[in-house]
Amino acid sequence: MKIGYAQFAPVLGDLDENLRAIDRLAPAFTEADLVVLPELASSGYRFASPEEARAAAEPLGESRFVDHLARTARERNVHLVAGLPERDGGDLYNTAVLVGPEGLAGSYRKIHLFSDEPDLFRPGDRPPRVFPVGDVKVGILVCFDWVFPEVWRALALQGADVVCHPSNLVLPDLAQRAVPVHALVNGFYVVTANRVGTERDLTFTGGSVIAGPRGEVL
Ligand code: ACM
Repeated sequence: MKIGYAQFAPVLGDLDENLRAIDRLAPAFTEADLVVLPELASSGYRFASPEEARAAAEPLGESRFVDHLARTARERNVHLVAGLPERDGGDLYNTAVLVGPEGLAGSYRKIHLFSDEPDLFRPGDRPPRVFPVGDVKVGILVCFDWVFPEVWRALALQGADVVCHPSNLVLPDLAQRAVPVHALVNGFYVVTANRVGTERDLTFTGGSVIAGPRGEVL
């Protein structure tokens, strides 16, 4: 399996522009089997209020973002992992989806919310799990989950081969150093797809990383 990431700067609250940004990146997806995009790639990150987050959130079953990813996955014969704000009834989750040529193939709701995210989102209510992509077992974690070894090990115990880690990191070079260690001690590959750009008071640190099971940065 050839894995990659697409690091870019989603625009806050502008789904149309973010879909266009993904379209501009998509020609390169053809080279890979699995491409990871950042956390909240459909919407940007720094919502000023729960109302602003709710306006950007979509139910997974009726999501323009998921539909667009599925179309891109079909056109490029690739699987994609990317984050979006998920609306489920009255609740919002910071979710990442796995989408393939056949459509939605898995999802994960971020368990460890960062800073004031709990003002916007409920913490994930399901344990992390792996999803098959061909013969490969793919797990998903989101950004600040990087601090907590238990969720990485939970995926290792399920036989994860690759952990996709959509991120909006703001602390420079901490996750980027921890991720190769998670890969090493659990014996899997990790793709951390961070974003760049500035929203309101936050600047995102880029430096996306793919690490291998010997702790090597690939
Ligand atoms: C983060 O969890 N977005 C830092």
